[in-house]
Amino acid sequence: RKVRVKVPASTANLGPGFDCLGMALELYAWIEMGPSEETVIRLHGDNVKGVPVDKTNLIFEVAQLVFREAGVSMPELEIDMQSDIPLTRGLGSSASAIVGALVAANALIGNPLTKDKLLQMATALENHPDNVGASLFGGLVVAKWDGVQADLIRLEPDKRLEVLVAIPEFQLSTEKARHVLPKEVAMKDAVYNLSHSSLLVAALSTGRLDMISHAMKDALHQPYRSGLIPGMARILEEAVDHGALGIALSGAGPTLLALVDTESGRKRELEAFLTDTFGKEGVTARTLWLK
Ligand code: HSE
Repeated sequence: RKVRVKVPASTANLGPGFDCLGMALELYAWIEMGPSEETVIRLHGDNVKGVPVDKTNLIFEVAQLVFREAGVSMPELEIDMQSDIPLTRGLGSSASAIVGALVAANALIGNPLTKDKLLQMATALENHPDNVGASLFGGLVVAKWDGVQADLIRLEPDKRLEVLVAIPEFQLSTEKARHVLPKEVAMKDAVYNLSHSSLLVAALSTGRLDMISHAMKDALHQPYRSGLIPGMARILEEAVDHGALGIALSGAGPTLLALVDTESGRKRELEAFLTDTFGKEGVTARTLWLK
């Protein structure tokens, strides 16, 4: 018996929603899992370089957590993974591996664990619920994690929204991009983000696309991370003038993500602005339109 799971990439933060907003993207990884005499892990596609194929593989390890939690023993597995999600670019590749492994392993043993239990496990592994929540539930998620309990509400993204990502060729680890953040922040920055993040959720849930450009601003992480990504500061400042409804760093970066009105008629202009601005800084970036 084998199971096959398809799991979406995700973008986290959407600007002000640091560690609490996430959105699934139509870009996928597939995981196939079954019991085996001896563990075999096969990785397919371009986005698997450097990923281990022994028992230190994340998918294998996460599957074992599920079996332990459910009181089942299945020490050897056959795993196949194929991914269209670029690694360490801020598109939730590790979250998708974790979620895919949890869902596949749980399905393999008859789904003894609830989806909420999988969310708790995934969040504890990632330490923030935004990417894993979006990969597990799909759509747009508003989530909280206090180190003990993750809670989440899923919203349906507005049908008029399209996403443009500009993915730089260089990798940036989440660890490095979290390391540049301050340990403490000023009250005014905290208030700035509370108001912007709340406004963004309200705008997205009521269809107020006109508010997105104001709401998608952030004072807690992007200003610190922009030093790691040449061209980012200018793109954040000017993308709205080139047809974006709003723009943000995708997760911990280096990918930048614009929300676009499908009917804006300025899709080519925005795409050119993003690649040209990165290009002027010597950064090659490829663009991708997603829903
Ligand atoms: N919310 C996280 C961060 C996402 O910005 O660090 C990174 O995976």
